[in-house]
Amino acid sequence: MKFKSIKGTKDILPDESHLWQSVEQHIRSVMETYNYKEIRTSVFEETSLFARSIGELTDIVGKEMYSFIDRSGDSLTLKPEMTAAVIRSYIQHNLGKKQPLTKVYYLSPAFRQERPQAGRLRQFHQFGAEAIGGSNPEIDAEIISLSAAIYKKFGITEFEVRINSVGCQKCREEYKFILKSFLSAIANKLSTESQRKIDTNPMRVLDSKDENDKQLTIGAPLIKDYLCDECRIHFEKLQSLLQIAGVDYVVDGRIVRGLDYYTKTAYEIISNELGSQDALTGGGRYDLLVSELGGKPTPSVGFAAGMERLIMILKKRNKLNVTAPHPKLFIAAMDDKSRNRVFQEIFKLRNQGISCETDLLNRSLKAQMREADRQQADYVIVIGENEINSNRVSMKAMRTGIQQEISLDELPNYLTGN
Ligand code: HAM
Repeated sequence: MKFKSIKGTKDILPDESHLWQSVEQHIRSVMETYNYKEIRTSVFEETSLFARSIGELTDIVGKEMYSFIDRSGDSLTLKPEMTAAVIRSYIQHNLGKKQPLTKVYYLSPAFRQERPQAGRLRQFHQFGAEAIGGSNPEIDAEIISLSAAIYKKFGITEFEVRINSVGCQKCREEYKFILKSFLSAIANKLSTESQRKIDTNPMRVLDSKDENDKQLTIGAPLIKDYLCDECRIHFEKLQSLLQIAGVDYVVDGRIVRGLDYYTKTAYEIISNELGSQDALTGGGRYDLLVSELGGKPTPSVGFAAGMERLIMILKKRNKLNVTAPHPKLFIAAMDDKSRNRVFQEIFKLRNQGISCETDLLNRSLKAQMREADRQQADYVIVIGENEINSNRVSMKAMRTGIQQEISLDELPNYLTGN
């Protein structure tokens, strides 16, 4: 019996992992430029944490979570997103005590049982940031600017930042009433999925992927036109701040997001290079979540983005010309008698932090040279009886073919450029 990876999961193989590492490093450096610090939380949490925060009636909680009962009878869930886990941790460790605004970022796997397709996996990876503890639109602008800066760092500029305001509890309830009456009038023409949402989550009808639904809701009332003064002023200020920050954006009144915790700002970054899964990033403000999860009222804002979707674009654009890690030096053994000395040299160099490789399979000299080539080593030396007696070796630079005689004792300095 041959085992296979679970549907919708992907192994990151050795010849690709360095690309991921490089992308992760770039992301970390932008996050740190904006003064966000990394937070790492457990891969699973209590199921009720997600039900409570993301919302019982959302697709994620309703049909996509990997939940299970552990041996103690507790219901646990592999995290489908990071925000709830970060806020749980923020409250538990009283992170707000140290500073009024807590700025954290993360890179983490996430799990959703969706139908796999290009850009949509069941285990995927998110990078994101949360700014916890402030209600000013400056913080929304910083989060949006940060997420856009990450794509720009990779030389990706063809994306669209679409912003909306989904209002607060007060104006949203009034708006929902108006929206419901609009939708009820066309209910029998809408898809069954959308019909179901009229009562449970009417705003989600506006981002239905069904073409007919899209046509039917073209003239639907949009929340941005029904905001209370506080939400409207916040949204206007956000827009002027984005202009100051030099972030291009469009207002898209149909951005409603698939998670229930948003208040005021909701936004997405979309790329037309991704096919049907076109969202690179999603985020927004969630002023009530901390108190809903048992903390003090703490307005917050954040975003998360799909790593796989970013990497898909980078690959398409050939923007991932990262050199694969390779050994600086390959030491071949002329014959079996020299192998112990080779071993000794290899460990000596490695102890000094120099990456080097040798043959561990007792192969012929010819096969060892082929291996050195395959490993793309920068230099190769062969050690045999002569080299051992004279303590000198001929070092060949693989890319130029130039050979140079050098004492074995000088090797470390030569290889580290000292
Ligand atoms: P989200 O829109 O559910 O938001 O996910 C954010 C991003 O994760 C998406 O834009 C997409 O790039 C990626 N993503 C989501 N599902 C998948 C999947 N099945 N396969 C591959 N990539 C996927 C959130 O998760 C919120 N926590 C964002 C947030 C942070 N809001 C405030 N703070």
